[in-house]
Amino acid sequence: METPKLLDPFARPVTYLRLSVTDRCDFRCTYCMAENMTFLPKKDLLTLEELDRICTAFIGLGVRKLRITGGEPLVRKGIMGFFEGMGRHLDSGALDELTLTTNGSQLHRFASDLYAAGVRRVNISLDTLNEDKFADITRWGRLPQVLKGIDAALDAGLKVKINAVALKGFNEDEVFDLTSWCADKGMDLTFIEVMPMGDMGTENRIDQYWPLTELSDKLATRFTLSELDESTGGPARYVRLEETGQKIGFITPLTHNFCESCNRVRMSCTGQLYTCLGHDGMSDLRAPLRASDDDAALTEAIHAAIARKPKGHDFDYSRQGIQGQTIRHMNHTGG
Ligand code: GTP
Ligand code: 5AD
Ligand code: SF4
Repeated sequence: METPKLLDPFARPVTYLRLSVTDRCDFRCTYCMAENMTFLPKKDLLTLEELDRICTAFIGLGVRKLRITGGEPLVRKGIMGFFEGMGRHLDSGALDELTLTTNGSQLHRFASDLYAAGVRRVNISLDTLNEDKFADITRWGRLPQVLKGIDAALDAGLKVKINAVALKGFNEDEVFDLTSWCADKGMDLTFIEVMPMGDMGTENRIDQYWPLTELSDKLATRFTLSELDESTGGPARYVRLEETGQKIGFITPLTHNFCESCNRVRMSCTGQLYTCLGHDGMSDLRAPLRASDDDAALTEAIHAAIARKPKGHDFDYSRQGIQGQTIRHMNHTGG
């Protein structure tokens, strides 16, 4: 095997870049944002050309999976042109996967263009199938629009994974409904434990936190769960429900830490490189990018940042308190 070009201090190769193209969003999910959020000034954003240049540099350094995130990535103006540009790295074989995580609100407009650009899989966030609950949790979102987006993605030939944040007292009663709805539509389903990222105003994370060990026990009352070995290069562990053949993913930063196999870094839309979701430490790539037209300074800054990648997050809800909370919200890096 070729020696990895980006190796962190714990000998983990970095081959996955998650790029947030905007911190803005047309929803205000209660576990993600406070209602009155201050967003980054538009003038600080990297241009789409600059984002292309940085991604291309990462791909040159061995990144093989690129996930576009937000906020909501599809609200960034002109983003389709960026996807089309990245398609050339799929064509050349330098990139294995170009994908995105979206709230689904704009997919009815963009699904077929995404497919044409080379995207084959999308992760769509959806925590409930109940219209009123959906409006409550997203504050500004409307379920029918998202369902329309999901159908547009499936019609366009995209493979869909639904991401549902497991929330105590909110979607505990919908685990089986979500499971069978995904099975009917041929979609994978992944549950996520809520992470303490940013202050959300009135909401209390500990009250929201529903450990996936409990969710999995609930599934096991109706299904036989078999652990699967496979991975998509992301943090989810998968089980198969023997009765339906369906695959269910669990992203368990709290109950089962997966940092030892971390292969990813994140970049914000202003060029801040976060080498761990659970830490606020970051490295600026915008200055080295703009310093010169060649990539020497940029490449050096990327290497220097990865040389400081932390071992893992410190999220913890035990001992009656929240440990390891980050100052920044999830929308800054899109998970
Ligand atoms: P796949 O390629 O489908 O495996 O996707 P993924 O799970 O890597 O990406 P997705 O955007 O669907 O991730 C879902 C959520 O998992 C993110 O929004 C985060 O909440 C969480 N997540 C992803 N990567 C990490 C990580 O490195 N650490 C932690 N703690 N959570 C992560
Ligand atoms: N903890 C866990 N998941 C979160 N998401 C947003 N905020 C949080 C949080 N605090 C999820 C969204 C979406 C993805 C981008 O991150 O639901 O699936
Ligand atoms: Fe927007 Fe996603 Fe955050 Fe919801 S979770 S507010 S859809 S960025």
